[in-house]
Amino acid sequence: MQRTDYAGLITENYIGQEVIINGWVHRRRDLGGLIFLDVRDREGLVQVVIEPESSCFNDANLIKHEYVVSVTGNVRQRPNPNKDMKTGQVEITASSIKILNTAIPTPILIDDETTSETNRLTHRIIDLRSHKMQHNLKLRYKLALEVRKFLDTLGFIDIETPFLTRSTPEGARDFLVPSRANKGYFYALPQSPQLFKQLLMVAGFDRYYQIVKCFRDEDLRADRQPEFTQIDIETSFLSEAEIMNMAEDMVKQAFKNILDVTLPKFPIITYTEAMHKYGSDKPDLRIPLEFIDLTTQLKNSSFKVFNTAANMPNGRIVALKLPANVSLSRKEIDEYTKFVGIYGARGLAYLKVNDVTQINENGLQSPIVKFLTEDELKTIISVTSAVNGETLLFGADSIKVVNEAMGALRLKLGHERGLATKDWKPLWVVDFPMFEYDEDAKRYVACHHPFTSPKEEHMDMLNTNPGQCLARAYDMVINGWEAGGGSIRIYKQDIQSKVFDALGISKEEAQNKFGFLLDNLQYGAPPHGGIAFGLDRLATLMCNAESIRDVIAFPKTTTGQCLLTNAPNIVDNKQLAEVGVQILKNV
Ligand code: AMO
Ligand code: AMP
Repeated sequence: MQRTDYAGLITENYIGQEVIINGWVHRRRDLGGLIFLDVRDREGLVQVVIEPESSCFNDANLIKHEYVVSVTGNVRQRPNPNKDMKTGQVEITASSIKILNTAIPTPILIDDETTSETNRLTHRIIDLRSHKMQHNLKLRYKLALEVRKFLDTLGFIDIETPFLTRSTPEGARDFLVPSRANKGYFYALPQSPQLFKQLLMVAGFDRYYQIVKCFRDEDLRADRQPEFTQIDIETSFLSEAEIMNMAEDMVKQAFKNILDVTLPKFPIITYTEAMHKYGSDKPDLRIPLEFIDLTTQLKNSSFKVFNTAANMPNGRIVALKLPANVSLSRKEIDEYTKFVGIYGARGLAYLKVNDVTQINENGLQSPIVKFLTEDELKTIISVTSAVNGETLLFGADSIKVVNEAMGALRLKLGHERGLATKDWKPLWVVDFPMFEYDEDAKRYVACHHPFTSPKEEHMDMLNTNPGQCLARAYDMVINGWEAGGGSIRIYKQDIQSKVFDALGISKEEAQNKFGFLLDNLQYGAPPHGGIAFGLDRLATLMCNAESIRDVIAFPKTTTGQCLLTNAPNIVDNKQLAEVGVQILKNV
């Protein structure tokens, strides 16, 4: 029964040899006395033939789908090869088949692309038998291994940090764990090891990394899970350029060694440029569309929508120019108008250039031509350099609405209209603002986290003009996904206090929440900085999967449930009493 080889690896080199394979019966066919089995293991499938005269024919007759078998037999050339199978040139003629276990019919079919995700997650163990999930989880493992090899070579050491800890401010809600020994007190599961890794720098470890679970109670999407894995890195004495180069090399090495893809040098663009050109701080550069800004040119527009947007304090007008080979029907424009409405846009003006020599309703097809003067139309055509056949789509509103709506439209058009290239487009986004103003809370909040250092030249503005302060922060973006983000940290207590001031965090609150960091910064903290990558996100990109759920063995649904184990679930009153917790009625 000892396996000699994996089923999925039996190739023509084995012809004439006897092999033993162990695996699951993926398919079974009876062809006029001959029985064919496709036997599957983690490496793939191979065809097994049982001839009527074989002594194991009776055993083979009992076999059903997903039975676990051990097959001994000779490898031979397949009379009619199957080009779609890795092992399609060969088959095994069975001399012995042992049924190691039977199986009841499975609730979902393996490798069936039509199975709903709910069914896949409910019957996850069967789903994990699929080629896709076996491939994705192996790739994820290889990625983690490449990262470890890379960081180990550079002298990084893996140090574990606690899961039962205090809240860290990464911007999401905490998952809380009640303490039995200290009733009324709670641990928070870490949103990241941020403060611990900084403290490890103060402790002199110099180069730390960890592949570590992080927990954030936030609204879930295709690229977010409540528990996810970070490749978390921190170093002392390096500049942002040095950290970015190292992180870039790490990702390049992983892509090379796992996918045999050579990534280009990552371009670096500023946050301001990214927002200006793409309306997003994680632009998908596979899409060749850029915003064309018309705010200044349309300040005196006779079209009310443009005039209002161009003259409001935080207003903006942009155009997206579609190439001549993309023509949109009225119905399609209506659909895109509805789509931008999701992001608060009140309309989507369009202008189709039919004949650029006629700057009027004859040459330009658009419901807004009648609202614009000839000069304005000329300006629009000249700034956008639009030529015959091209279509302009306009967004005019607050900067926030335009960036979100037209940014999302850019992605949708790019992917739906086949404009996106099929390659890899990594980049760095730098020079993020330190703070953004939270309209609801009526105060500034940290864009990255409150331990991020301001740029040296902006230190003086921390308390006078916080909105203009830029941070020494950087994000790595790949194909429109934020793959990782980090910063140079504040290592001096007085600057940290100024940042807390700017954030409206009082001395008492700062001491109470982060005293363990602030106190220790005073014992000779080295200059330090780091980065954290979403391992799940990198693996999703590398697997070309749509959702990070496809690279996680046991993920949660978008409502935070595990359909396999039915977590979260109720607990009995005795357990609640032990931790001193009572459930409010009607919650
Ligand atoms: P940040 O909050 O940007 O930084 O997180 C780092 C990276 O983690 C991934 N990520 C997620 N992946 C899946 N599900 C989620 N809910 C989720 N949230 C974040 C992203 C992101 O780029 N301590 C800092 C890092 C640092 O400054 O060194 C931090 O956690 O890929
Ligand atoms: P209206 O005069 O409101 O019918 O709008 C005329 C055209 O302008 C329509 O094509 C609308 O979709 C478009 N439009 C209205 N508001 C906006 C806006 N805020 N941004 C871009 N286009 C708009």
